[in-house]
Amino acid sequence: MLEVQKLFKGKFFHTPTHVVQAPGRVELLGNHTDYNDGVVLSFAVDKYVQIASSPRIDGRVELISSAFPESEKFFISELNKNPAAPWANYVKGVLQRLRKHNVHFSGFNAAVYGSLPMGAGLGSSAALEVATALTVREMHPHSLTDTGSTVPPKRDRRGRLRPLKPAERLATARLCQAAENHFVGVKSGLLDQLSSLSGKKFHAMLIDCQRFSVDPVPMIGEICLVLCDSGVKHALVGGGYNEIREQCEAAAKALGQKTLRLVDSKMLAANKAKLTPRQYACAYHVTREIQRVFYGEQALQADEFALFGEYMYQSHESSRDHLQNSTPELDLLVELAREHPATLGARMTGGGFGGATINLVKRGAVEVFMEYMALHYEKRTGHKMKPMLCQVVDGAK
Ligand code: GLA
Repeated sequence: MLEVQKLFKGKFFHTPTHVVQAPGRVELLGNHTDYNDGVVLSFAVDKYVQIASSPRIDGRVELISSAFPESEKFFISELNKNPAAPWANYVKGVLQRLRKHNVHFSGFNAAVYGSLPMGAGLGSSAALEVATALTVREMHPHSLTDTGSTVPPKRDRRGRLRPLKPAERLATARLCQAAENHFVGVKSGLLDQLSSLSGKKFHAMLIDCQRFSVDPVPMIGEICLVLCDSGVKHALVGGGYNEIREQCEAAAKALGQKTLRLVDSKMLAANKAKLTPRQYACAYHVTREIQRVFYGEQALQADEFALFGEYMYQSHESSRDHLQNSTPELDLLVELAREHPATLGARMTGGGFGGATINLVKRGAVEVFMEYMALHYEKRTGHKMKPMLCQVVDGAK
């Protein structure tokens, strides 16, 4: 029995009828590009949010979580924030959006179990949102579009629903993003939700947020991906994330463009005087970072991992200097990694202001690298840090 099923049974005294899981995502290259209609490379990682559930008939939802002591109970007709259980906002936000999309559902009991560290910039919020959407789909099958829900998908002989089609993945990702933007109040882009839904084993994803396309990019070779969590909590809610987004949007507006995707380095340089220094710095980062992602994709396609690693370092430096969303701990992790001969590249991953770095490391020396990072990070900061080796996995199901 899975841990999530045990958790459910311990609370509700029966076996759950459904179990779903959504992986976290690692942003490999492309920092703060997604909501600028830009491109980003990411992969789904073998750390999950799982939800075990069973329907109820009284229109109530009762939630427990392995990560938070506070449980939460509410009617599906009363989806309000509860400051005593903020983690449940991600679930409520998705339920609210599903109702707006005319998806009919009743109450349920659910246990949430996470092997995905929270606040590490690995998309744990999105994974919870996606797992919530899939839980409702399991209990009340529907096919989601951007404007509503259509004919329910059929179950196979073993009672399983067919996997989401690409258009449904996009509609589900957008719905979850809307939940985060409007209910939780973080103006995040589509990266986390779409990566959690679209992951492909052994592949990175090139996500184009202008065309809404997801293209797999093989990532197979003598390389390993290692996460180093700085241990400094990254909280997007109320953090500097929204500020960066506002600067980017204001910059695009001042340049007469809908988004920064439509701005290139030349146009930016020629119109520098129209922007505040902060707007210019953010736009400078975004326009170059979008280019780096395209070059990075070519490097991965050609198995040029050392070149890809260079782009990772450049990306980190640009985020640090121009977006100013790094921390001394993240900078130290990148600096330590750079000193190790097995490292090909390192950068912060996700929104910033804490969280983790992602490191591209030569396969043969990955254990030595992990020991080295743990040892030196503790020496320099006094904090223990356990590097995590990543497997690149399939998306939510
Ligand atoms: C967070 C957001 C994403 C993206 C990244 C930064 O993870 O949720 O939408 O903007 O930060 O690239």
